[in-house]
Amino acid sequence: MEQQNQTIKRAGFSSGFGVLAATLGSAVGLGNIWKFPYLTGANGGAGFLLIYLLATLLIGLPVMIAEITLGRKAKANPITALQTLAPKGQPWWLIGVSGMLAAFLILSFYSEVVAWVFAYILKAADGTILSSDPQVTESAFNALVADPVQSLLWQWAVLAFIGGILLMGVTKGIEGLTKRLMPLLFVLLLLLGAVSLSLDKAVEGLAFLFSPDFSKISASVVLTAMGLAFFKLSIGMGTMMTYGSYFGDDQNIPATALRVMAADLCVSLLAGIAIFPAVFTFGFAPTAGPSLVFITIPAVFSQIIMGQALMVVFFVLTAVAATGAMLSLMEVPVLILHERFGLPRPKAIMLTLAGLLLSGSVCALSGSLLADFRLWGLNMFNLFDVVSSNILLPAGGIFLALFVGWRWGFAQFKEAVTNQGRVGSASLARVIFLLLRYVSPVLILIVMLQGLNVF
Ligand code: PHE
Repeated sequence: MEQQNQTIKRAGFSSGFGVLAATLGSAVGLGNIWKFPYLTGANGGAGFLLIYLLATLLIGLPVMIAEITLGRKAKANPITALQTLAPKGQPWWLIGVSGMLAAFLILSFYSEVVAWVFAYILKAADGTILSSDPQVTESAFNALVADPVQSLLWQWAVLAFIGGILLMGVTKGIEGLTKRLMPLLFVLLLLLGAVSLSLDKAVEGLAFLFSPDFSKISASVVLTAMGLAFFKLSIGMGTMMTYGSYFGDDQNIPATALRVMAADLCVSLLAGIAIFPAVFTFGFAPTAGPSLVFITIPAVFSQIIMGQALMVVFFVLTAVAATGAMLSLMEVPVLILHERFGLPRPKAIMLTLAGLLLSGSVCALSGSLLADFRLWGLNMFNLFDVVSSNILLPAGGIFLALFVGWRWGFAQFKEAVTNQGRVGSASLARVIFLLLRYVSPVLILIVMLQGLNVF
């Protein structure tokens, strides 16, 4: 009876396909199109990709399954969820607090990258960036980043846009839209990949992406690859727990997580295939960093008929993909403020946006007015990224794994993850459980300590 009341009271995803689409909508975003290529480029290529793959399978997948399962079991925001599931008085709910912090840090720089995407829709439309000359595309990007007014205004436009979607409560509509438009993004990436593969130095690009050179791997590269796996799957900060709380009771969680992971990986690889052959052909530096996609993609489009129009479509679709991810990031603080602290939803949204206006501006200005404001050698844009991906998300992952493996226990986990024995099998549940209990936390800890130079 109580269960029934809860299902009626809380909104949830209505169909199995809706669940898959929303979860995928959270995972696929700038992480695939912007972050994956630039980190792979900066960290030596295929070796990095291999470690990223291992981290995704051994750590990412089990943690994702754990998070969704906990969320669905508790049907609540991450803080309340952990308070309900943990024995009284134990501070596991702090994972939710760290998740809120991570959401703010990530949204602060993420919204700035989306701001560049918005600006690029216009630049693509007026044709100024359609060139394969590194000098042209690089100076267009640098001018944008170095302009404080443009950087701020575009970011505020992005925040207003997201806030508008949330306040009007059209998230469902947006999810419907994302669902329809994502296949188109996939097709465009396929097309870009095909064009890129026909370029002169395609083989060099592919070798960079797929034939590992382990001399480039250091402890900090391994940590970056693991951090990317967390970021890509939207795990370690309560996003998947929040979405899990909207999952239906008959949804097959491991199967959904596996599909999301596989689809997400495909999009990342396609972006890599579209970018690296062009990088080598046109003489860009694979190590360019955050600008890599913004300088290379225009060069690929410059090689196609109707390249200008297609580039507009590409950046619009990238903005759509990023919107799904931002909505899921916002949902963490918004649901916590609403459900746990009793704020009406509109107030929770406004408060979150107000905070982001401040912390986001710091990132927006870190290419111009605040360029010299650095901690540990990093400007705020990079610092927020590194602290969230390489510290907060993996730490969240450790504690989520420890919670399931050592507090919640196998019996409860198996019941919940197999839908009381209706899907999957007890042995699958056991494998995931053992990974969570012994493998993930230890691996994450070692990678973190080594990567952060603790020993
Ligand atoms: N996974 C998203 C992306 O790749 C980013 C994200 C991280 C979303 C963490 C939610 C939580 O763009």
